[in-house]
Amino acid sequence: MTYETIRLHTAGGVASVTLDRPDVLNAMNDRMRAELTRCFGELASEDDVRVIVVTGAGERAFSAGADIREFVEPEPPVRFREQRRRLDFRGAMDRCPQPLIAAIRGYAFGGGLELALACDIRLAGDDARLGLTEIDLGIIPGGGGTQRLPRLVGRGKALEMILTGARIDAREALRIGLVERVVPAAEVLSSALELAKALAAKAPVALRYAKEAVMKGLGLPLEDGLRLEHDLATLLRTTQDRVEGARAFLEKRKPRFTGT
Ligand code: COA
Repeated sequence: MTYETIRLHTAGGVASVTLDRPDVLNAMNDRMRAELTRCFGELASEDDVRVIVVTGAGERAFSAGADIREFVEPEPPVRFREQRRRLDFRGAMDRCPQPLIAAIRGYAFGGGLELALACDIRLAGDDARLGLTEIDLGIIPGGGGTQRLPRLVGRGKALEMILTGARIDAREALRIGLVERVVPAAEVLSSALELAKALAAKAPVALRYAKEAVMKGLGLPLEDGLRLEHDLATLLRTTQDRVEGARAFLEKRKPRFTGT
């Protein structure tokens, strides 16, 4: 599958999706959104892809958000209706059973940060700047930011960021729980790929069920979440990989997981 605005590379069970418009700091235009929808939609059903890394091309930005050049005219109603019919690519990300890791170098603003928020684990370079800056353009986050940010950093911090459009640095992002790790800027992608490789070596079904239990459970009352966890844990008891994991421990060797 060829793309114009993104690059997809798969190796050793890890798919890397790179936003590839570095001349505009990987700003997202309609074409990129459509390509990301297609790309994540296809990755979701690829069993051989165990982990997905999302990053931006170049050294300056993960993504500077929506392509503001598309904002200068009010949208005609027809185009608006067309847009509504098209699935948001972050919905396609939500349907990926694989863990998604964001490797954030430089700017992650607006829709760029919302893309990172739709990932499961965020690694930032020490040069990262992050913010939901939409308010300064007379709009509000429309790619999940008003919902995902408070779930991650709490209501007060999220409101402070969304209402002021503040652009915070990597250290502050780590402090408030917006990113999970900060590493030297030049090492962001290699660190993300190293983490992805480590996850890709885990028992594949357990990896997916662990993500499902946490992500689906967060939307459920505790009792239902505990039931979901119990059901998934019970299902895993039927796998060969569970036996292999225990055997490898007892035989003091690395497990050879097969996904069965
Ligand atoms: N949409 C379209 N183009 C963008 C863009 C965006 N969101 N963000 C940056 N660009 C373009 C710039 O227009 C510029 O293009 P040019 O070289 O043709 O003039 C190029 O990317 C480089 O950006 P520039 O502003 O010159 O770099 P900088 O280092 O001075 O500033 C930012 C970088 C990210 C701080 C600044 O570009 C910015 O604030 N961008 C908007 C971020 C934003 O609000 N995003 C949310 C959109 S909802």
